[in-house]
Amino acid sequence: MLHPIFLLLGFWYIFPAYIANGFAVFGRLIKSKHSIDGGRLFIDERRILGPGKTWEGFFCGLTSGFLFGILQVLAAPFLLALIEQYLVLPPELYPIVLLSVPLVFLVALGALVGDLIGSFIKRRLNIARGRPAPVIDQLDFLVAAMIFGILITPLPFIIALFLLIVTPLIHLLANVVGYLLRVKDVPW
Ligand code: CTP
Ligand code: MG
Repeated sequence: MLHPIFLLLGFWYIFPAYIANGFAVFGRLIKSKHSIDGGRLFIDERRILGPGKTWEGFFCGLTSGFLFGILQVLAAPFLLALIEQYLVLPPELYPIVLLSVPLVFLVALGALVGDLIGSFIKRRLNIARGRPAPVIDQLDFLVAAMIFGILITPLPFIIALFLLIVTPLIHLLANVVGYLLRVKDVPW
């Protein structure tokens, strides 16, 4: 059995995804915006992704998430030392504390790709840009980030499950904060 405190390492692993997803919204601060689907329609005559998915947002999120992840990789030995002062870290969790540059890149990239997949699904379900889609809005980026990340460093199932449960709550909270700070138009 994993000590419950180690569930928190899930946050450490997925942080670049949270950052990538959160900072994509600042793509809107860049004046010239280029939508990723280029305004093109899908066979159902609706936008492929919609105007809310821009290259500016994509690269703003990817750069932020990746840079943050690199800071984590640099800080990881200190976190490891701290943990080992108080707890015995199970061997399989070492890669989750130490991370790696390719891992944090893939986690950040996965988050942005997942966000695009989420928008693609929303458009197919005829949900307009910016309208809420429960589950999709909160989990698209997370699921894709975990799948991308697992290609490099496996995540224990219980930690993945923990992230699936707590992320929607954090996501909602973050969006309400973003709305209050006026960087988002709607609190979801
Ligand atoms: N954004 C962006 N490019 C991205 C992702 C996000 O420019 N790749 C910006 C857009 O201004 C977007 C805002 O961040 O409106 C919030 O992102 P999100 O909630 O994911 O987009 P929605 O507008 O809700 O669009 P959708 O309905 O497709 O989810
Ligand atoms: Mg949205």
